[in-house]
Amino acid sequence: MNNRLIDLYKKQFGTKPEKYFMSPCRINLIGEHTDYNSGLVLPAAISKFIHAVVGKRNDNKIHLKSLNKLGDVEVDLDKISNSPENKWGNYPLGIFATLQKRGYKLPFGLNIIYSSNVPIASGLSSSASMLDLTAFIASTMYNISLKNEEIALLAHQSETEFNGLQCGIMDEFAIALGKRNKCIFLDCGTNKFSYEDVSFKDLSLVVIVSNVKRALIASPYNQRVSECNKALEILKKHFKIESLSDLEVSNLEECKKLLSNDILYRRVKHVVTENQRVKDFIEASKNGEVNKMCDLLNKSHESLRDDYEVTGEYLDSIHDISMKYGAYAERMTGAGFGGSSIAVIKKEDFDYFKDKVIETFYKKYHIKPLIFLADICDGLTVKNIK
Ligand code: GLA
Repeated sequence: MNNRLIDLYKKQFGTKPEKYFMSPCRINLIGEHTDYNSGLVLPAAISKFIHAVVGKRNDNKIHLKSLNKLGDVEVDLDKISNSPENKWGNYPLGIFATLQKRGYKLPFGLNIIYSSNVPIASGLSSSASMLDLTAFIASTMYNISLKNEEIALLAHQSETEFNGLQCGIMDEFAIALGKRNKCIFLDCGTNKFSYEDVSFKDLSLVVIVSNVKRALIASPYNQRVSECNKALEILKKHFKIESLSDLEVSNLEECKKLLSNDILYRRVKHVVTENQRVKDFIEASKNGEVNKMCDLLNKSHESLRDDYEVTGEYLDSIHDISMKYGAYAERMTGAGFGGSSIAVIKKEDFDYFKDKVIETFYKKYHIKPLIFLADICDGLTVKNIK
């Protein structure tokens, strides 16, 4: 627990907070830009957390404060709307609006103070972490008792409907369902999932935060979503499919003929081959074939670079530098366009690898990436404050 947060709450609101909540961030091992195409993903929660202390209020206001953001936000529960005045508060507030939209009565207000050790807009999904966290806070404080999957779905509804990002469900699921040392193999078409042990044997997984900032809504993310939808509309006339993920690699030749537009074809090719790579990765992992797993991770990066075009100069540069300094595999993780990546390296090379990547990237861009060993952890937690 961060006692500074508890002290700040007492100072600001004159009472003790009741509960202490924590929510992790996520990486995705493989299965990128497949979730909104009802495809396969393999994310895991990692131990970079958003913390929150929470207490009830005697009125019906939601008062939000963050140690990382400027300005408090205070809104009446019955007057919540997405407005520029709410600034960063538009993310957490969407959860209360979405619960009300679903017919829940929220009989009292809440004070919430957030604090995060997660780099914001870094590709580790701090926004989904804040949404899941707030959904969990609301579910606990109002005794709604939502299951983890329901928390993920509520957070996802809030992000798409209230905040207008056409994202898939991967991030919200990865964070709400996180489990120590397990990856989550999720079929985003059915929301069915299983926990998988993924081991690189004597190699280690590291996370590289490029520290190149990007805002998802302003990025070509929604454009990729609409390109996929456009391709789906065309292909639906020829194949019996509900989503691009119903296509097999063996259908690609035909897709190429049907989609005269090369860009649309390459988007489809990425989605279809990426789903196959996820399946192959799971199988290689079950068979302990680490070389194959690494090869698939690299192929995923190449496909995201050449066909889906979401890696961008900075993440491609980190990929090349990492491979030069000893990585067995390296790929962007999350949305891309800046953000983060993961690499597989020898554990004993960690310090050398880290120094070299930081030094080389800094020389080129004057930006210092953050590099750490991935620690796969549990999802949402809550404790009473005594
Ligand atoms: C972002 C979105 C996810 C997913 C990834 C790309 O993190 O929030 O839903 O689409 O990008 O795989």
